[in-house]
Amino acid sequence: MSVAKFKSAHEVAIGRESLNGLKDYMNNLGMKNPFIVTDKGIKNSGTLEIVTALLKDIPYTVYDNVAPEPEMSIVEECKKAFLNSKNDSIIAVGGGSVMDTAKIMAVYADYDGPLDNLFGEGKVPGRNTPIIVIPTTAGTGSEVTNIGVLSDTEAQVKKGIVSNHLLVDVAIVDPIMTISCPKKITAASGIDALVHAIEAYLSNNANHITDALALRAMKLIINSLPKAYAQPSNMDAREDMAMGSLLAGMAFGNAGVGAVHALAYPLGGRFHISHGVSNSLLLPYVMEWNKMACVERFRDIAEAFDEPIAQKTNEQAADLVIERLHKICKDVEIPKKISSFNIPESILSELAADAIKIERLLRNNPRTLSEQDILAIYKSAY
Ligand SMILES: [Fe+2]
Repeated sequence: MSVAKFKSAHEVAIGRESLNGLKDYMNNLGMKNPFIVTDKGIKNSGTLEIVTALLKDIPYTVYDNVAPEPEMSIVEECKKAFLNSKNDSIIAVGGGSVMDTAKIMAVYADYDGPLDNLFGEGKVPGRNTPIIVIPTTAGTGSEVTNIGVLSDTEAQVKKGIVSNHLLVDVAIVDPIMTISCPKKITAASGIDALVHAIEAYLSNNANHITDALALRAMKLIINSLPKAYAQPSNMDAREDMAMGSLLAGMAFGNAGVGAVHALAYPLGGRFHISHGVSNSLLLPYVMEWNKMACVERFRDIAEAFDEPIAQKTNEQAADLVIERLHKICKDVEIPKKISSFNIPESILSELAADAIKIERLLRNNPRTLSEQDILAIYKSAY
């Protein structure tokens, strides 16, 4: 194994009531009047109030205009609102869309050039504005990654900014914040977290640290996601999901994700299918493709899933994993096939042409893919 480096949020607070430490973290960072980035769903569900109730005598501004799969224009608007507000810091309260918007805005606030210049790896010059993130979904892992993703509606693609300046100062992962998460979002973001753990474990870039995190994440998520979906107020299930998603975020934030994400991005970008759902549509089919490249690792996944594999060959254990993936996507009622979304089959070759360009992710995938291979996977998932 070559040299492995590990990065995460500067500080992470996890578990029930971890949110009670918010004011202390703010004091440590010198945050006197925060700008809160959120969305209308979080505000209307009362979830935002759990945070603002802790601020009492602290003045703050709320920006609640973040939309799902946020566009670049949202970041522009958010930056303008932040600069006008004269607030000194940022708190993100939301899912991946909110956290990504806030993280990108935090580095963009200090930057004089166009937002376009920051896309890609290592293009961000720095960050001066302190930022705390409080996730309200168990899924994206954005609270601990150095990645932010936005939609470019003109080019119909998702674009990523990768920079260690996107690592937040503090991530507070308190399961109470996910209790009001709607069922559909619980399902989609939960599958996204599972994909993060699996792809990180199978990544060509995995190491001992990310392996440990990914396996624990898989175990937590496979057992708790169906429960969190079936009983939204089951606090144990919500807590396990919050932890699983955090660990998966730490794993993929360092090992990377692979072909599931690479193939999901063009689907989400063109047809506005949520990130978790587009991942779910591809997950079993990409794993079927990957299996022969790393069947021993699939056996480890089967073990994490508590499958009865003592008498099974690696090949059989891998098949049990794939069956289980079909089952969990079905359990959380995500449609099985791309064709369920009124997408014409003729477009699949264009999606494959887009996906093959996502070299940043494809190079992590354990089995090499050509454009033809990608098209074949889209067809099997159609
Ligand atoms: Fe993801």
